[in-house]
Amino acid sequence: MRILLGVSGGVAAYKAVLLLRLLREQGHAVRVVPTAAALRFVGAPTFEALSGEPVSSEVFDDVPGVQHVALGQGADLVIVAPATADLLARAAAGRADDLLTSTLLVARCPVVMAPAMHTEMWEHPATRANVATLRDRGVQVLEPASGRLTGADTGPGRLPEPEDIARDALAAAGVGGSAASHDLTGRRVVVSAGGTREPIDPVRFIGNRSSGRQGVALAAAAAARGAEVTLVAANLPDGLTAALAATSGTTVVDVSSTAELRAAVREAAVAADAVVMAAAVADFRPAAAPTAKIKKVAGAAPAPIELVENPDVLAELAADRLRAGQVVVGFAAETGDDAGSVLEHGRAKARRKGADLLAVNAVGESLGFGTDVNDVTVLDAHGELVTAVAGSKREVADGLWDAVTKLLPSI
Ligand code: CTP
Repeated sequence: MRILLGVSGGVAAYKAVLLLRLLREQGHAVRVVPTAAALRFVGAPTFEALSGEPVSSEVFDDVPGVQHVALGQGADLVIVAPATADLLARAAAGRADDLLTSTLLVARCPVVMAPAMHTEMWEHPATRANVATLRDRGVQVLEPASGRLTGADTGPGRLPEPEDIARDALAAAGVGGSAASHDLTGRRVVVSAGGTREPIDPVRFIGNRSSGRQGVALAAAAAARGAEVTLVAANLPDGLTAALAATSGTTVVDVSSTAELRAAVREAAVAADAVVMAAAVADFRPAAAPTAKIKKVAGAAPAPIELVENPDVLAELAADRLRAGQVVVGFAAETGDDAGSVLEHGRAKARRKGADLLAVNAVGESLGFGTDVNDVTVLDAHGELVTAVAGSKREVADGLWDAVTKLLPSI
């Protein structure tokens, strides 16, 4: 396939180099068209060496060749990664002030843009309107990933991993795996994500470290595959869910405690073909949550917090089957210990919970919670291995949906 890779000027331009190498390794011919600003981040020789093609940014670089027409007409697929706020604005306005935007006006092949910018820029109404305009015209604007941005800040706006961009872009061009096939069209799915908070008093709670990113990736992947998605979001940052709701049509239900999560999941599950419990749900809650703040009393020992057990939402869903044929999926974040390995704990949990699938992942330093990559082993209700998926959280999400679709009754 002849791919035109547009690169606009942001720090994430370095990831375009990895994307370029990946596409070349997959056997595609790639012509890189950076903007002038992109070349301030990555030099033309890097793109030239890895693509084996000349690189230019200006329409005046090869006037007799009328490059923008030749490049636009000759491409089977255009990928712009990273697409900055400025590039999205220029493309939405139909500007033709450099080689990349001119080429975009000529191209009639699928166009996929992978935005990267700070969260505030991504969420600005101007950017939202530009994205909506481009999508109305058939451009596939991918969701930015959420996570560490250029500085110390985090949020949606990060360039998706090169593997994810390549897969989504090739899917847009009709190449690629099951994620391309919209195999969840006509299905309703519920995904819970985040971590519950159990109030101790009005200002304190018992919580956990779940970032919610795997759950959000599951919701985004299901929406991309055509499903109608309800995301039950336990204490997720607004930015993470607002972008998903605005761009993929996902219904987001915000919850905080396990009781709220349980009610929201069960309400949505009545009409769902699949329910994925990716949320980290507290097993216990304080027996009493006083309405006034607990004060420390000078000289007195702290009052113990009595805990009571929460309902097991996943086990209940597996037992109740709120809709016939519904596929129920759980997650198990495990650490190995003296009593057994990660997988042994996972097997026991799979049998105990009764869910159709249980995605087991090892947590601990640099794995699972808060990271961008994940590595899960999917077991069935008997604890038998179904599949193993490793990669970005989006890749893991797609691997899990692949397993779910195999269990769904046909429609
Ligand atoms: N889960 C749930 N309700 C709970 C606890 C957990 O629905 N009260 C779900 C989680 O969403 C996840 C799965 O059960 O999909 C496994 O969660 P985990 O905390 O690993 O399981 P526990 O049964 O709490 O096991 P452990 O003894 O390891 O804490």
